[in-house]
Parts: sequence; C-alpha cells; structure tokens
Amino acid sequence: MRTTYALPRRWSVAPLLVLVIAFVGFSLPPYLTLDPAQSRIPVAGTAAGYFPMLVGHVIFGSIAILTCCLQVWPWLRTRYPDVHRRVGMAYVFAGVLPAGILGLVLGAQTPFGPVLRASNVLLSIVWLTVTLVGYRAGCQHRTTEHRRWMTRSIVLTLSIISNRVWAVVWVITLSPQLATTFGGNEALMIQTIAGLSGWLGWVLPLVVTEWWLDARGPGPNPAATGGRRAPATVR
Ligand code: HEM
Repeated sequence: MRTTYALPRRWSVAPLLVLVIAFVGFSLPPYLTLDPAQSRIPVAGTAAGYFPMLVGHVIFGSIAILTCCLQVWPWLRTRYPDVHRRVGMAYVFAGVLPAGILGLVLGAQTPFGPVLRASNVLLSIVWLTVTLVGYRAGCQHRTTEHRRWMTRSIVLTLSIISNRVWAVVWVITLSPQLATTFGGNEALMIQTIAGLSGWLGWVLPLVVTEWWLDARGPGPNPAATGGRRAPATVR
C-alpha cells in the first residue's frame, strides 16, 4: 500500500521538469556558442559587455530554473533535507542572485522599449528581494515564512516560461493588426508584444500565488508532507 501512494508523489515533479528541460534545451544552446550572431535577441548596437552579460544571465537563469524544480519536489524535500539545502544554496547563489543582478542591468537597457524596461527592472528587484527574504527565513529556521517567500521566488523564476507563452499569444493576436493598429510600424508592434508579455508573464502568476498563499493560510501544505507535518529541519 505504501508504494501505491509513494510512487505518484515521487514522480510528481516530472511534468514540470520535462517542461523546464524543454525550455532550457531550446533557450540555452545558442548562447553557449558565445557567438553574438546566434543570439535570439538583437545585440548589434548594444553597449560593450551586453552580450557577455546576456550569456551569463541565460546560464545562471538556467541553473535557477532547473534547481527550482528540485526544490518544489515534495518527495526529495522530505526524504533528503540535506540535498534540499544544498540545491537551495545553488538556486540562490549560482542561480537567482547572479541571473537577477544581470537581468537588472540588461533589463535597464533592453532593446524592446520602455514598457518592457519597466517590467524587467521591477521583476529583477522583486525576484532578488523575495529570494533573499526567503533565504534569510530559511537560515533562521522560520519554516512557514521560508516556504511562502520561496514559493513567490520560484513562481517568478518559472514566470519566464509564461512570458514566452504570452509572447506567442500576442504575436498571433497582434501580427494581423500591423497595418491597422500599428500603422505599419513593426518596431512599435514588437515593443507592444514584448511589453505585454513581460508584464503579464510575471504579474498574473504572482497575483494568483498571493491568492493561493492567503487561501491556504500559514500551515504546512498537507500535499507536500504526505498529510504529516513537515519536520522542523525541512525548509
Ligand atoms: C525572473 C527574472 C528575470 C528577468 C528580470 C530577466 C531579464 C532578462 C532580460 C532583461 C533579458 C534581455 C532581453 C530583454 O531585454 O528583455 C533576458 C533575456 C533572456 N533571459 Fe531572462 N530574465 C529573468 C529570468 C530568466 C530565467 C529564469 C531564465 C531561464 C533560463 C531566463 C532566460 C533568458 C533567455 C534565454 C534570454 C535571451 C532571450 C531568448 O533567447 O529568449 N531569464 N532576460
């Protein structure tokens, strides 16, 4: 009977992991070539150092998004708290911190216009802040607060995927309006798509997360602990 319940829980992270591996497998390779011509965003005319920072951001961002899958895996968290702690350090210090600082610098000089610029800068600041607050709570063994802040952090990390989904939605929706709504101005249309995708990509998931955290209250998530209270050491 035990294995009947343990198996789904053990594999519960699989769908998320598959999605994230597919995203990283698609996003990362062009930047590992270190060839600016392979960049998916225009880097010609950007400041010196922009492309190396972009490469660094994508590599550290990939570490953040891959490690966050392990951090939300209830089976690993409850079974191997030491692994959870080590992967958590990698998530914060080899993922979010460097990726967020580089995201802030890159975001302030985005080639996609002022609306995305505002979104990128604010997202970087919020991402770094909630992660550091969550890390501090973990160090101080304030488990409930640690879980709530890290939930926000992980939702923001994963929001890069919803950002790309929104971009596809807006390209499909707005491209036919190039000649009408945008008067044939392609740059304006691209900036509009980037701005909409940027803001919707992280604000909506964060609002839903806040609602979910409020609805769930401060107690431990029974689904994550198999109906038991999480041990105090599991953070
Ligand atoms: C959540 C906070 C994040 C912020 C604020 C952020 C910000 C940025 C910025 C400013 C750029 C340059 C393009 C632009 O000007 O918009 C960029 C590009 C990129 N970022 Fe992030 N990023 C974040 C998270 C991530 C994560 C977690 C990944 C995971 C791999 C990632 C992967 C990429 C990739 C692959 C690009 C290059 C564009 C592409 O090839 O699609 N970012 N990001």
